[in-house]
Amino acid sequence: MDLYGELDPGSRLLMGPGPVDVYPRVLRAMSAPMLGQFDPEFTEYMSQVMALYRQVYRTENQWTFLVNGTARAGIEACLGSLIAPGDKVLVPRFGRFGYLLEEICRRVGGVVVTRDQEWGQVFDLADIAASIAEHKPKVVAMVHGDTSTTMAQPLEGLGAVCREHDALLYVDATATLGGMPVEVDAWQLDAVSAGFQKCMSGPPGSSPVTIGERAVAVILERKHIEGGIQPDGYVATNGPAISSNYLDLGMLMDYWSPLRLNHHTEATSMLYAARECARVVLQEGLDTGFARHDLASRALRAGLRAMGLQLFGDPVHRMANVTGVLIPEVCGNGEQVRSQLLGDFGIEIGTSFGPLAGTIWRIGTMGHVCRKPNVLRCMNALEAVLRRNGFDTPANAGIDAAYEVYSES
Ligand SMILES: Cc1ncc(COP(=O)(O)O)c(C=O)c1O
Repeated sequence: MDLYGELDPGSRLLMGPGPVDVYPRVLRAMSAPMLGQFDPEFTEYMSQVMALYRQVYRTENQWTFLVNGTARAGIEACLGSLIAPGDKVLVPRFGRFGYLLEEICRRVGGVVVTRDQEWGQVFDLADIAASIAEHKPKVVAMVHGDTSTTMAQPLEGLGAVCREHDALLYVDATATLGGMPVEVDAWQLDAVSAGFQKCMSGPPGSSPVTIGERAVAVILERKHIEGGIQPDGYVATNGPAISSNYLDLGMLMDYWSPLRLNHHTEATSMLYAARECARVVLQEGLDTGFARHDLASRALRAGLRAMGLQLFGDPVHRMANVTGVLIPEVCGNGEQVRSQLLGDFGIEIGTSFGPLAGTIWRIGTMGHVCRKPNVLRCMNALEAVLRRNGFDTPANAGIDAAYEVYSES
């Protein structure tokens, strides 16, 4: 162990389900000097981050800000702040991350009802609507794109159903934000959280959240401010306090409000990164970025099929930024292929979890990585490695097919 050696991570092309390569502009922004958390320059950056993420989320929600911690911190902040012990929650699960939502809802005392869809499929809106009508949950917690299965659940219409039944709709958009439309206002989503290490192409470590008025009302009913910073005239509410201090959206809202009521010390470099990620994504234009992700996936999938591989899951509901492909029998659990891609070509792809571990590879085309040279590099490398592992694939078929999709565009 060379404990005193300089940090010198190898060069990689991250084409797994995340994290992915970070935009160079974002890396540069992270090396900017620290500012104090009440420095007017810094609080101005906080306000800018709120304004930028309103655009990324396509929302007017005032409460659009960052929760420190990886995407799971944003999920816990939303669910832990909306769900009080004894509240009923519906979690429709179509992959591993539905289980994560369930787990978090239970840990904060929710009474959870789950619905399951076969991995590789998504729900019909009518099925979820029937469960909402039957169970009358206070909160419906739903994953948008579940990277474990590479499927994206259509959400249009679900918000309206939730409102009809007076339920709040929380959505985990960790893996879709920046890569596929997440229309917070148009789809009537009450609370949404995401991460940076997928289509936003930032480092993991912060989570942009957006909270609508209906959700804010629930949070304010249980608002408590910790001792030592309570403003004059503060009276605690009667509602049950949010069990986590760090992930209490009520206190975080005060911290991000003009009041700047102190909570944690904002993760300064992550805030710089978040600001730059949004600027890159918005400068390209959200719709242009979605089209870039869609095109890369179509090229990748055409290439994989031409190589004789079989794609995983419902073709209509695939995420635009990660593709599941069945591991051919001759490649066993697929680990040797992954390790040769990494060791010999510097390209990382993923396998999956639970029933899909060792059954599918997951190839991501997200954010900064989602570009023609990378798709073509991946085709070339995969063909070579597959051949070495006994999978007979026609020479150049993958790269030609991917090329073709790009030339037609
Ligand atoms: C859909 C989804 N939700 C949540 C997470 C958890 O994110 P994190 O590891 O940043 O906490 C992931 C990570 O892969 C994800 O894909």
